[in-house]
Amino acid sequence: MKPLTITSRLEVYESPEELPQDVQELMQTAVEARESAYAPYSRFKVGAAIILENNKVVIGSNQENASYPSGLCAERTAVYAAGARYPDVRILKIVITARSLRHQVVSPVPPCGACRQALVEYEVKQDEPIELYFMGETGKVVKADSVKDLLPLVFDNSCL
Ligand code: THU
Repeated sequence: MKPLTITSRLEVYESPEELPQDVQELMQTAVEARESAYAPYSRFKVGAAIILENNKVVIGSNQENASYPSGLCAERTAVYAAGARYPDVRILKIVITARSLRHQVVSPVPPCGACRQALVEYEVKQDEPIELYFMGETGKVVKADSVKDLLPLVFDNSCL
């Protein structure tokens, strides 16, 4: 038996004001996108904004459904929209923010496991990392240089 140690390096910003200007602007777009969430069941609104190599910005927000599993998270809404609209353009960054209509979300809200899996597919496809930033409504922002930092032991096409 040999132990396998997995490490990830993330960066924590104390507030969005500490972010580089372009990421602050993308975060503002994600905040606006968050309001388009359709979340009557969870009352939890998530917004995502993606910037592409051609400088286009694609947004997403969570879209819920009375048949709960038919709903979709903000991150997948955004990345699938980017894939549909700009199939061959590299994704540079995705920025995510969440707020609740029930309480203030002050801790960073990371993408769920299913969204990490969906995002990493595009990282593998483009063979370049996607920078990822996530926060709550206020407070700290966490940055990952690659989706793989949030998804070690990734299942991808090399496993098939
Ligand atoms: N949600 C997202 O949009 N992104 C995530 O990564 C986590 C969860 C949404 C799904 C659902 O509409 C609501 O937040 C509560 O789980």
